[in-house]
Amino acid sequence: MKLRTVSELLSQDITFPEVEIKGWVRTFRANRFIALNDGSTLNNIQCVVDFENFDEALLKRITTGAAIHIKGELVESQGKGQKVEIQVKNMTVLGDSDPDSYPIQPKKHSFEFLRENAHLRTRTSTFSAIMRLRSSLSFAIHKYFNENGFYYMHTPIITGSDAEGAGEMFKVSNLDAKNPPLNDEGQVDYSKDFFGKETNLTVSGQLEAETYAMSLGKVYTFGPTFRAENSNTSRHLAEFWMIEPEVAFMDLAGNMDLAEDFMKSVIKYILDNNREDLEFLDKRLQDEDKTKPQVERNEMTLIEKLNFVTDNHFKRVSYTEAIDILRNCKPNKKKKFKYLINEWGTDLQSEHERFLVEKHFKCPVILFDYPANIKAFYMRLNDDGKTVRAMDILFPGIGEIVGGAQREERLDILKQRMATIDIPEKDLWWYLDLRKFGTAVHSGFGLGFERLVMFATGMSNIRDVIPFPRTPQNAEF
Ligand code: 4AD
Ligand code: MG
Repeated sequence: MKLRTVSELLSQDITFPEVEIKGWVRTFRANRFIALNDGSTLNNIQCVVDFENFDEALLKRITTGAAIHIKGELVESQGKGQKVEIQVKNMTVLGDSDPDSYPIQPKKHSFEFLRENAHLRTRTSTFSAIMRLRSSLSFAIHKYFNENGFYYMHTPIITGSDAEGAGEMFKVSNLDAKNPPLNDEGQVDYSKDFFGKETNLTVSGQLEAETYAMSLGKVYTFGPTFRAENSNTSRHLAEFWMIEPEVAFMDLAGNMDLAEDFMKSVIKYILDNNREDLEFLDKRLQDEDKTKPQVERNEMTLIEKLNFVTDNHFKRVSYTEAIDILRNCKPNKKKKFKYLINEWGTDLQSEHERFLVEKHFKCPVILFDYPANIKAFYMRLNDDGKTVRAMDILFPGIGEIVGGAQREERLDILKQRMATIDIPEKDLWWYLDLRKFGTAVHSGFGLGFERLVMFATGMSNIRDVIPFPRTPQNAEF
């Protein structure tokens, strides 16, 4: 007999005399109805037990969380809520679960509690739905790039360069922390370290991706990135996954077109392929909304929000226009923003980004041409000498979801920009080489994968969309 999945069985229109299934017990009602789940779908399959036919000792072991193996007949269901069910003929317990200490009881748990039990939280409907969506989105991303002529590049995780120039990096070293070798100046001598130099966990694969774009044309990376910024917010992780395409001969306008088309395509993919999970999360959010005061409720349901992104043009707005809007908007004039916008040149905070997206434009927004001094050194300087060809995509409920730019392809200007922020040329000699040998216009962007998963699932805390979140003071599991 072939082992089936719950998903396979629930999609059957015909009955089977003999089926075999393994999974975890969600509930066991009235000594008769087992709701069994194996992760293949949100839904449980109902397994009906004739208790007269089974040992009482065995029935006692059918507890929430136990792993069991069932053989039986797939029949049309007599009850409501499912087309088919299994009439159990034979049942064995593969792994017992002590009902008194199993943390995932069949009741509502808080997200905080489930975070502390992240190793078991995918046994709940909400987290299994989120993680199936995460997996689907990841597949849709590879599919999009594959179908559009991009090569998947694995950029290094250990690196000697600081791509974003922000210095918020985790050191990689195998020197003895208590007794490191020192140089003549009394500082740690990294030439004696494993790699013979200072190394860190990467904050972005972009600089390395640029080297491949300048030979393979269209590439992307999709891997883990690490930032030691001490921001304990609902949108930051110390370890997160980033998707970074990089394309030769593409300018900023092309970059915006690519990002918009890409975002729409991956969201459309889950709308087409993950309906069940999306509808479940949508309903969860609507139920949650009912407990909130009217003003805090979502204007759109989750699925409406996703459709809204696929159906609408992303509004393109320059930083300068955005500052004008923000300077004159009500929350700024009434001093409702935590950070007031007074002059051109200030960096935007998440409250400003969300105002633009949610209140002013009411659609995804691409902000571009930011002041040079609030953006990274590699972004192409505009002819005005004070702005760079940067772009950020802002999404409702999230704020910044994508950050990208047209890259500075002119050697002399790139060197000047590196000099002004004290990046030694010798550290990035290979990056400068790209501007010496066959330089060309090129662009790319980075999409924070967890921010995309937040948007797609409607979850409001980034810790709930990655299996085991790493945040300040927390690296359990
Ligand atoms: O805007 P960022 O810092 O851009 C870069 O790293 C560029 N090198 C990308 C490129 O052009 N190839 O980061 C890109 C995105 C952000 O828009 C955000 O979605 C996400 O990465 N991000 C984070 N996500 C979770 N936790 C953090 N600490 C994040 N920092 C950035
Ligand atoms: Mg950014």
